[in-house]
Amino acid sequence: MPAPLHGIQACVFDAYGTLFDFASAAARCPDIPDTARAPLSALWRDKQLQYTWLRALQGAYADFRQVTAEALDFALETLGLASPARHAALMALYDTLDAFPEVAALLKTLRAAGLKTAILSNGTPDMLTSAISSAGLDGLFDEVLSVHPLRTYKTDRRVYQYALDKLGLPASAISFQSSNGWDAYAAADFGMRVVWCNRYGQKPERLPGRPAREITSLAALPACLGLGAS
Ligand code: LAC
Repeated sequence: MPAPLHGIQACVFDAYGTLFDFASAAARCPDIPDTARAPLSALWRDKQLQYTWLRALQGAYADFRQVTAEALDFALETLGLASPARHAALMALYDTLDAFPEVAALLKTLRAAGLKTAILSNGTPDMLTSAISSAGLDGLFDEVLSVHPLRTYKTDRRVYQYALDKLGLPASAISFQSSNGWDAYAAADFGMRVVWCNRYGQKPERLPGRPAREITSLAALPACLGLGAS
């Protein structure tokens, strides 16, 4: 067991895939064949992320709700499932995703230990507000930070800088948690202390940056910070 990370004053979390289970939308949607649920979730997510990167690179920002809707159209059409009713149902479900089971208790543990808690996400402010409320996490974050005012997406370094500016802390005092390897590596390259919550068993990225720790559930985060189990 490596030594705990010292000097951490705030825990900043990615939202989708880290706190909220994006697969719960397709899992809960009626009228999707069972065999199509996992492929739909995967393709929707992959395309959504590609569109964020491409739009950031092109300087053609559109907000995450639009990007998510357009990626969904691509995925539904690719899988032969396109229909306005399915599109509407899945977009509504995306606003009420399940939180992963350990999240609420974890946030309470961190806050009881005097740490600040925050979200740093591509999601729009209204998408994040809705997801937080429907998952019963109201009041458990000091800051909910969306890229929206910056009109760009992760992994633009301005996004990670925004968290420092809003929290008034140096990167070395922030523990950043993401399940997305590419996000975890970029935040580490930026200078944050990163705990990669590798829920999906991804292989190491071949990108700049190196996460300080790797866990498979956020329940293991308190131990990484020397707080004991949540
Ligand atoms: C987010 C996506 C990348 O919440 O998961 O920013």
